[in-house]
Amino acid sequence: MTGASARCRAAILISGGGTNLQAFIDAVRGGTLDLDIAVVISNRADAYGLTRASQAGIETVCIPHKDFDSRDAFDAALAEGIDAYAPDIVILAGFMRILTARFVRRYQGRLLNIHPSLLPLYPGLDTHRRALEAGDRWHGSTVHFVTEELDGGPRIIQGRVPVRPDDDADSLAARVLEVEHRIYPLAAGWLAAGRLVLCDGKAVLDGRELSEPYQYGG
Ligand code: GRF
Repeated sequence: MTGASARCRAAILISGGGTNLQAFIDAVRGGTLDLDIAVVISNRADAYGLTRASQAGIETVCIPHKDFDSRDAFDAALAEGIDAYAPDIVILAGFMRILTARFVRRYQGRLLNIHPSLLPLYPGLDTHRRALEAGDRWHGSTVHFVTEELDGGPRIIQGRVPVRPDDDADSLAARVLEVEHRIYPLAAGWLAAGRLVLCDGKAVLDGRELSEPYQYGG
């Protein structure tokens, strides 16, 4: 942060509907999250999250990945777009691009992601279908620091939901999203307040190493 009394500035990166972004907007408005959402950046012009941001009076930027002929070139433009707003932290909220190691290192310790599974289970895509096919009784979502390993960075908080006998991937996804909307602003608030740090490759909350992620209780 730029000074002791300055509000933490965040860039939020999206690709789609932006319900997690909306949860951040609502938490800031409701006074439960002390954050200045400086900019919302999307790699897709049709992402509904851009509309949500505009409606909330937040600046938006679109950087279409298709305009670039390499991952490196896109990530360089993305970093430039982010840095123009001088954020303290960067929040990936349904940002559906794999980021280069160079990008990840640039924001190390300041870069969070939410992944819709109880990591280390099911990194990658199709997590809800995979949990159903495995017959899991519990599913959920994990907020983690982003490192060079895909969906493999130190875990911070998990929210669990029971898998119901009549669940399909859509009903399960909807229930997981509800818990995401609670755990992600919470974790971002810890980072923004300086309570959460990445230290020697471990997530540390209030001075205590999180060898297991914090389990959200409801
Ligand atoms: C969420 O399920 C999140 O875990 C994943 O992408 C989805 C984003 O949803 N990374 P939304 O755009 O925030 O509604």
